[in-house]
Order: sequence, then C-alpha cells, then structure tokens
Amino acid sequence: PRNVVVTGSSSGIGAALTTLFRAQGDRVTGVDLRGGEIDADLSTPEGRAAAAAAVVEAAGGVVDAVVTCAGTSVPGTAMVTVNYFGTTEFLTALRPALAAAERPRVVAIGSISGTQPHDPEVVAACLAGDEATALEHAERAVAEGRARQLYPSSKAALAQWARRTAVADGWADAGIPVNVVAPGIVLTPMSAGLFDDPEMKKVMDAAVPMPLNGYLKPEDVARAVLFLASEGNSHITGQVVYVDGGAEATLRGPAD
Ligand code: NAI
Repeated sequence: PRNVVVTGSSSGIGAALTTLFRAQGDRVTGVDLRGGEIDADLSTPEGRAAAAAAVVEAAGGVVDAVVTCAGTSVPGTAMVTVNYFGTTEFLTALRPALAAAERPRVVAIGSISGTQPHDPEVVAACLAGDEATALEHAERAVAEGRARQLYPSSKAALAQWARRTAVADGWADAGIPVNVVAPGIVLTPMSAGLFDDPEMKKVMDAAVPMPLNGYLKPEDVARAVLFLASEGNSHITGQVVYVDGGAEATLRGPAD
C-alpha cells in the first residue's frame, strides 16, 4: 500500500478523501487538531515540524502522497498561518520523504477564492516565506476591517507557491508533481453557517456561480484529488485545477 498523508483529515474534504484512499487500499496518516492519527496545530512552526516528524516516522521515511486539506475560513490571521504556511512549510518539511518514494505526489487544496481580490502585501510576504511580515500585514488587515481579504490572499499565495515550486525549486527534478485543487462552494462544516442566512446565500451564489451541478459534496472534490495524487498522474504539475461547477470559467471568461 502507498503511504498517504492527509491534513485536515477529521472533517469535510479531508475526511471524505481519507475514506476514499482507504477504500482503495492506501495507508492514510491523518493530521488534524484532533481526531487524526497525529494531533497537531499546523498554525505554528513547532506544530508543523512535530507533525512532519511524526508523519515521516509513521511512514518509515517514505511518503508516497501528501494532500493538504487543513484550512480555516474564520476571518483572522489563522488564514495565513494555517492555509498558507501550514501547507507550504509542512510540505517542504516532507520533501525528503516524498523524494524517497518511487512515484510521489502532492496536492494542496486551494479555493476559487484565490481568484478574488486580495491583499498584495500579504501575498508577497507569504511567497517570500516571511511569516512574521505576512502576519504584520494580516494583523493590519484585521485592524482595518479587511479580515475577509485574508482568505483569498492565503489561497492566491498558495496557488502561486505551488506553480513556482512545481518547476523552479527542483521538485520536478525529484519527480514530485505539485498541484492545487481549487473548489467552488463545498457543503462541509466550514460552509454550513453561510447558508443559514438567505441574504448571505445570495451573496455567495453571486460571488461563486456554479452552473454545472450546483454545490459540491466533499466526495466530488476528493475524487479529483484522488486522480492527481495517483500514480496515473505522471505529467500534470504546477496546475490549479478548478473543481467548481464552472465558477472560474463564468467569472474570468475565456481568458486564454
Ligand atoms: P472543514 O472545516 O470541514 O475541515 C477543515 C479541517 O482542517 C478541520 O478538521 C480542522 O480541524 C482542520 N484544521 C483547521 N485548523 C487547523 C490547524 N491549525 N491545524 C491542523 N488542522 C487544522 O473544512 P473543509 O470545507 O473540508 O475545507 C478543507 C479545505 O478546503 C480548506 O483548505 C478550505 O479552505 C478549502 N475549501 C473549502 C471550501 C468550502 O466551501 N467548504 C471551498 C473552497 C476551498
């Protein structure tokens, strides 16, 4: 069996994915605040390092696939520390164990929100790997009532990091595809509250129009991830794959 690591494995997309991986015979090590095989807080450098070390140990030094689903949409700085650094720093720590696998694969969960207006200073500091400066800008955004920009900022930065990392930092040379799956609205505990308020639902539907088959279930996202994380994906890397019922195509139009 392949050794697969899933962050955010206790809920929503990560939980659905864990079920699908296990159903096809993979050995999954789940990482989450609680309820996974490894309990860890990916918002801190210590938590990420401890999680990475525990995962590598559990996998005997060889990790075949990592899918990062841990994330938060609660407006605040955790959007930067969990969604961005909790993904990029964790993946970077796992690179040697991925490079030791025969056909390693990486998929990070981004979001359609990454295409929406964001704070360029937060994005730049993230991409520079400067967490302290990213946090300063994030705290300013919160103080100025722009906390909601931090979610799109974290996901835009993540998509750019993945595209750069896939081809520029030697991951391709090490045989590791790195892709982002960017969902539209998924019916999970994260999005549940949004639909309680009919006004909010209207705003969401306008912001993320999904003409094909409506809202996603976690399994709909997980199935796309499963392919990108499989040995069958030999050549797709550096891509942001929108699994969004046509939202990105609607919003951006036939750009290229
Ligand atoms: P969820 O809330 O059901 O699951 C997220 C998981 O991440 C939870 O189990 C949570 O405990 C874990 N997590 C949060 N902070 C953590 C931390 N500091 N350390 C370790 N684990 C932590 O949410 P869902 O919807 O399954 O989201 C999964 C990913 O999909 C997230 O990255 C989210 O941003 C993204 N996404 C979700 C969409 C939606 O509509 N639900 C839309 C687009 C993207």
